[in-house]
Amino acid sequence: MSDTITIKKPFDSHVHLRRGAMLRAVTPITAEKFCSAIVMPNTDPPIETCEQAAEYKKEILGALPRGVSFEPLMTLYLTKNLTPVDIEKGAAGDVCEIHAVKSYPYGATTNSQWGYRSILEAKDVLKKMEEVGMPLLLHGEVHVDENEHEVDAYEGEKRFIEDVLPRLLEQYPNLKISLEHLSTKIAAEFLEKNGKADKLVATVTPHHLLYAREDVESKPLLRCKPLIKSAADRDKVRELVAEGLPFISAGTDSAPHPESKKFASPAAFGVFNSPVAVELYTQVFDEMNALDKLEGFLSVNGPRFFGVEVSTETITLVKKDWQVTEPVTTDEGINIWPIGDVKHGLGNETVHWQIKQ
Ligand code: NCD
Ligand code: ZN
Repeated sequence: MSDTITIKKPFDSHVHLRRGAMLRAVTPITAEKFCSAIVMPNTDPPIETCEQAAEYKKEILGALPRGVSFEPLMTLYLTKNLTPVDIEKGAAGDVCEIHAVKSYPYGATTNSQWGYRSILEAKDVLKKMEEVGMPLLLHGEVHVDENEHEVDAYEGEKRFIEDVLPRLLEQYPNLKISLEHLSTKIAAEFLEKNGKADKLVATVTPHHLLYAREDVESKPLLRCKPLIKSAADRDKVRELVAEGLPFISAGTDSAPHPESKKFASPAAFGVFNSPVAVELYTQVFDEMNALDKLEGFLSVNGPRFFGVEVSTETITLVKKDWQVTEPVTTDEGINIWPIGDVKHGLGNETVHWQIKQ
């Protein structure tokens, strides 16, 4: 097996860049490793108008180190304020080009308090998105069911795949949909059966490929939504990515939180992985003997779905052990701990691939 691989520069189909000092600390890391990324809108307050997206994009571009080219692709949050007019305006791109709309189930995760309880309620907006070809990004978990009962968080994605997604696909047959951070066997099987490169796709995080529930339950750095599932779920998700399907792509879901929130009880939901995500994906593909499928997953399938160019730059990775030992520190002195950190991760973790400088 080869110990060097060169691929087109990766594309992150799902990243949280936050705002202010946090944004200034994490944006250069994503921009170094990825050519472009779909930027999540769950800031506080949320990004729900094209004007807000334009301002947010400007803040991201302002945080790029000199000479670095990186394209942030902006999204809107599917709040109750979002209207079909916003969708038309976002698709036209006069104020700011909007590449997708993100749905968060009310109460399920960080800053999801502005979301619908069920995506099926957002009828007029979904119709317009279907009409103009605007992709819908789904946080695919049922958090509260139709009888207002909270669903077991380990069951939320399964319930979504069984009860909601088939109805959504039936009611909006031409809507472009991405199931974000797929984490279960049932979701992987659903995609294997129904996935289509320009229509129904899914993103996968490094942490859902690497870890299992039994290893991480007490580890705050690995607390995220959707929760990390069983080893059997993880193994099926690994199998899915190794198949090299054109509708499965990398979405890191890198979601930084200050250490005060990560080491609080309960820890904030969100894994910060951008300093090590490309390396960890490579490690997983190597372990699966599927390095020939890495470029499609990391660099090609994402841009194709969103109708943007694949990068013309390349990166080279080498098989060489290293460890994550330092937090990222903001210009206000706040620490953000990446996944895999030797002190706060699972313990003495070793990353087996490195990006060649
Ligand atoms: C994300 C965050 O912190 O913004 N957290 C997470 O656990 N993934 C929100 C999200 O994508 O669910
Ligand atoms: Zn996310």
